Amino acid sequence: MDYNRLHSYEAYQAAYAASVQDLEGFWGAIAENFTWRQKWDKVLEWNFEEPKVAWFIGGKLNITENCIDRHLATRGNKLAMIWEANDPKERYMRWTYRELSEKVNQFANVLKNNGAKKGDRIAIYMPMIPELMVSVLACARIGAIHSVVFAGFSAHSLADRINDAACSMVLTSDGMNRGAKQIPVKRVVDEALEMCTSVEKVIVVDRVGWAVNMQEGRDVYLHEELPKASKVCEAEIMDAEDPLFILYTSGSTGKPKGVVHTCGGYMVYADYSFRNVFQYNESDVHWCTADVGWVTGHSYIVYGPLLAGATTLMFEGVPTYPDPGRFWQVCDKFGVTHFYTAPTAIRSLMQAGEDHVLSYSLDSLKVLGSVGEPINEEAWHWYHTHVGKNRCPLVDTWWQTETGGIMISTLAGITPMKPAHATLPLPGVQPVLLDGEGNEIEGNDVEGYLCIKAPWPSILRTTYGDHERCRINYFAAYKGYYFTGDGARRDEHGFYRIIGRVDDVINVSGHRFGTAEIENAINQNENVIESAVVGYPHDIKGQGIYAYIICKEMPENPIQVRAEIVETVVAEIGKIAKPDVIQFVSGLPKTRSGKIMRRILRKIAEGDVSNLGDTSTLLDPLIVDEIKDGAIALMA
Ligand code: WT7
Repeated sequence: MDYNRLHSYEAYQAAYAASVQDLEGFWGAIAENFTWRQKWDKVLEWNFEEPKVAWFIGGKLNITENCIDRHLATRGNKLAMIWEANDPKERYMRWTYRELSEKVNQFANVLKNNGAKKGDRIAIYMPMIPELMVSVLACARIGAIHSVVFAGFSAHSLADRINDAACSMVLTSDGMNRGAKQIPVKRVVDEALEMCTSVEKVIVVDRVGWAVNMQEGRDVYLHEELPKASKVCEAEIMDAEDPLFILYTSGSTGKPKGVVHTCGGYMVYADYSFRNVFQYNESDVHWCTADVGWVTGHSYIVYGPLLAGATTLMFEGVPTYPDPGRFWQVCDKFGVTHFYTAPTAIRSLMQAGEDHVLSYSLDSLKVLGSVGEPINEEAWHWYHTHVGKNRCPLVDTWWQTETGGIMISTLAGITPMKPAHATLPLPGVQPVLLDGEGNEIEGNDVEGYLCIKAPWPSILRTTYGDHERCRINYFAAYKGYYFTGDGARRDEHGFYRIIGRVDDVINVSGHRFGTAEIENAINQNENVIESAVVGYPHDIKGQGIYAYIICKEMPENPIQVRAEIVETVVAEIGKIAKPDVIQFVSGLPKTRSGKIMRRILRKIAEGDVSNLGDTSTLLDPLIVDEIKDGAIALMA
């Protein structure tokens, strides 16, 4: 059976059964479809106790040979990448696989000429320009571990990530375009590097033509380095289990952690999931609107599509610039067949009105996708009806930074879809629902904690520099299972519906933050003594950030103090973590042991103050009334 393209529901079911019966045989057969410099000796070794997971043991490869070189004979003149600029009047760019190959090889040589070598960690802090894709692949070519940091993060966040992995190089740009604005990028890097000691070289792409600070001996311009570099660079031979990249993501405690993915397993799963979920065909044009700074961009802008030999579209801009029809204009302009975006984007475009989408034909579209957060039924129907014209399957894809690729999703046009449901696991993926005691909940029409029972090739291997943290976060809650942090329902047909996080993680417009992480940022403000952050339902963002804050004194000018606190969060994390609501309080509802009762704070933030449950165990039950009244006053 061709596991790379499951053509029917029956084929899906047969593949699923085969994968459960013989996990190693199943993935071994799929892995045969790649270029290996040396075949693996053993498909899998694992235990979830340490945890230790290794796939394709002994196998040698370079993922860029699989993304690029092996396509050159048959697809050399096929478009690998289409790039659309922020400004619709700026000329777009198109590169064939042959051109991409030259760019990647040449950039790889620039990295080498500047001292980079296999195993080095390289931070990439860049806007959505073609050089971002080239940077990622150039690192992979020479065996350097890339750590892409979303260019919306602050200097502090960037510095934390650079320091955690002791990166020796940063790849960046002078500035970036975003809608009507231009934003400094190099300046943020300069500020970050004042807090870092490991970085020896910074390579700067000239995107907006600014005269930025260039530190002698450290900073070089890409355009000055390229002419010195050859367009041929032998790929570094990597072990299947060598790290390919680190990507930082937030958890319920502490600072964001560096999720580590490896060369072999990640490659196999990115390609397999891309082909099957989107039902890829040779002439398709695939557009994933995520930023390469998130895992979605890694797997479904860069690696998945290129591994499959597809044409992938990269967009520099935002959905609402110059107007809320931009996505649809770009679809028509390039004949996009597969469109993959986040529910938050759909909800904001929905609010802007149907006219924008009705002005475009969207005839080329064949498949729609959703990712990052639960998609509510209203948004699902709007997307399916107005964008997909009721003829395109819509795949709701559930996965995580830690899973590397799509885990639970409809296979477009092959397996059933149901609004607001991710539906069925991909063959090779074994989800279960657990109760609070860690027992598997059998049967259908049930709800529980979503865990995975057996490894898949792109499961995270560790959290960088701290394996114990990986164990505690994902493998300790339920012995023998990978715990996702999500709650889910299995409906009467056995289809999964993801309900949302059950830990202290909030999902704002598809971006993950730990409540503790935002609290730490807020607490950096000199007025603040203590804070508690919770998520609350938000019409556009999915969840909004609600912060209860105790100041040294009740602010006389709350508007000003609020603005200052927001500024602190922006400086500590970035604009994407701005609190939506700040309520000043004189105390927080705590148990006698000092634990904040977030359940109560969550209810109040939701506007549901009628039934707060038992508050008698609180240290100071009266505080609840004060907070309640304050919240009502704030919303009035
Ligand atoms: C968390 C992972 C997966 C790439 C983007 C986000 C939520 C993700 C869905 C979906 C409901 C979803 C989960 C998950 N999530 N996709 N289709 N339906 N929830 O990656 O930042 O690692 O976040 O996003 O809560 O745990 P991430």
